[in-house]
Amino acid sequence: MNGEQFRTEQKESTVGSAVITVNSKPYIMMAGEVHNSNSSSTEAMEPIWQKAKKLNMNTLLLPVTWEMLEPEEGQFEFRLVDGLIAQARECEMHIVFLWFGAWKNAQCYYAPAWVKCNPERFWRAEVQKGKKKVNLEKFHGMPYTTLSSHCEETLQADSRAFAMLMKHIKEVDEKEHTVIAVQVENEPGLQGAAREHSDYADELFGKEVPSAFVAYMRENTATMRKDVKAAVEQGQESGSWEEVFGTAAEEIFHTYSVAGYIDRVAEAGKKEYNLPMTVNAWLDKGQEPGMFPSGGPVARMMEVWKYRAPHIDVLAPDIYVQNFCEVCEEYTKMGNPLFIPETAVHSHVAPRLVYVIGHHHAIGFAPFGFEDMGQPFSATDSYLFGVDTSDPLLSVPQDIEEYAWYGHTLNSMMSLLTSRYGTGELQAVISEQPEQDMMIFGQYGFKILMAVPFIPRKDGVCLALQIAENEFYLIANGCMIAPFSTNPEKPHVDILSLEEGEFRDGVWHMTRRLNGDEVASMRYDKPTLLKIKLFSYQ
Ligand code: DGJ
Repeated sequence: MNGEQFRTEQKESTVGSAVITVNSKPYIMMAGEVHNSNSSSTEAMEPIWQKAKKLNMNTLLLPVTWEMLEPEEGQFEFRLVDGLIAQARECEMHIVFLWFGAWKNAQCYYAPAWVKCNPERFWRAEVQKGKKKVNLEKFHGMPYTTLSSHCEETLQADSRAFAMLMKHIKEVDEKEHTVIAVQVENEPGLQGAAREHSDYADELFGKEVPSAFVAYMRENTATMRKDVKAAVEQGQESGSWEEVFGTAAEEIFHTYSVAGYIDRVAEAGKKEYNLPMTVNAWLDKGQEPGMFPSGGPVARMMEVWKYRAPHIDVLAPDIYVQNFCEVCEEYTKMGNPLFIPETAVHSHVAPRLVYVIGHHHAIGFAPFGFEDMGQPFSATDSYLFGVDTSDPLLSVPQDIEEYAWYGHTLNSMMSLLTSRYGTGELQAVISEQPEQDMMIFGQYGFKILMAVPFIPRKDGVCLALQIAENEFYLIANGCMIAPFSTNPEKPHVDILSLEEGEFRDGVWHMTRRLNGDEVASMRYDKPTLLKIKLFSYQ
């Protein structure tokens, strides 16, 4: 980890264990990302902070745009940044700023006018040779342009602006530490082709691949996707990009360029203020590069990013696809801490918040456009969220009272949760993966039934946190829980006590002692926090 706010702690288990710290205390970002334009004024943000409070979020992800930060070259405007920080402090929340510099969704929407109007100085990427703008056939003829990752002038200007931003944040916020991390660029990369096709890019592509990079790739094939691994293994040990990386050459070449560019922007920023830095990915869904932004930190290119971008602490997936759990799994490879800066606000979102904390010990989770959580979906939302009839939860907006309950409960358990990060004492299961229905803690275990006919809710989740050999806190919803013993000499289990309750100022407060019918079947159809004590015998 490079960011000084990261603490890495390896306890006995194999689960990822990097946590972010705020004022020296481990911290989980139970966050929300605002719609792109809402942090362009503090006025627009007023009601949004209130909604975030209502949902019991502790952090907001807010775009800061190059065009508004440096409207004229060399003239910087920090009033908006200061205003957003002041609002966060008033609400006792934290901020992750998203630097919308050269890239925003693989385009250059947010570059200032003085950059956009000077393509001779700030090159445009040539998706096709000689063309600064193209219509992308595979995107219904969408007009497309973006800045080139090969242009040193752009890199210098982008880095300078980002460094000024970080310097300013340090000046106004180092003591209070309201801003806890920064995302560098947004869903970077190139659409329409796997790499740029300018004469300059062609020339680089024909050159010898740096030997240290070839060696790294050949040494790190274990974590690679099958096709990338095959291309690396079958390629020559030295030579041009095509000779060394075969069928994956164009994508690896372009990723090398984009990751190298962003690393230098991050490095310039860290020199001013060493906050943890992330880069987010528009996922690949198995398509060819160019259908997703080629060069971005997709899982298939994580090895390239880890090599080329040592100043980036976290590669973060924006997850709108249905195989959420699979994506989470992939983004924990190579010791990458799990941080989800964007995800849909349909009814899977609350259980996913609990799951990523309990199962992956995630450092953060943020539904995108959370301002609209609970509202009926627009046509754009439905398209983005992949709403279809195969899964009814996709078309139902998240219940905001329930999201708020989870937010409150998890926040109230922050120190307990983070103290178990990196250990086997914190686990979770989710109904999206009904085959993973067991949590085992030494002598005891829980079998969790979800997504079965006698449990009507399909948004099941269960998190278990061990506090003693036979004692646990459980967050449960849409599930039935059956404790068992793993000890063959004491195979029987009784429940000694079961309480419903909550944490008040960090102290457990029992609201109801459960027994009789409520213990005979531990079945939950609303979010519930429990404390359970077990006993095993022969
Ligand atoms: C991913 C981007 O990173 C966000 O800024 C936003 O554009 C969403 N997609 C979709 O609205």
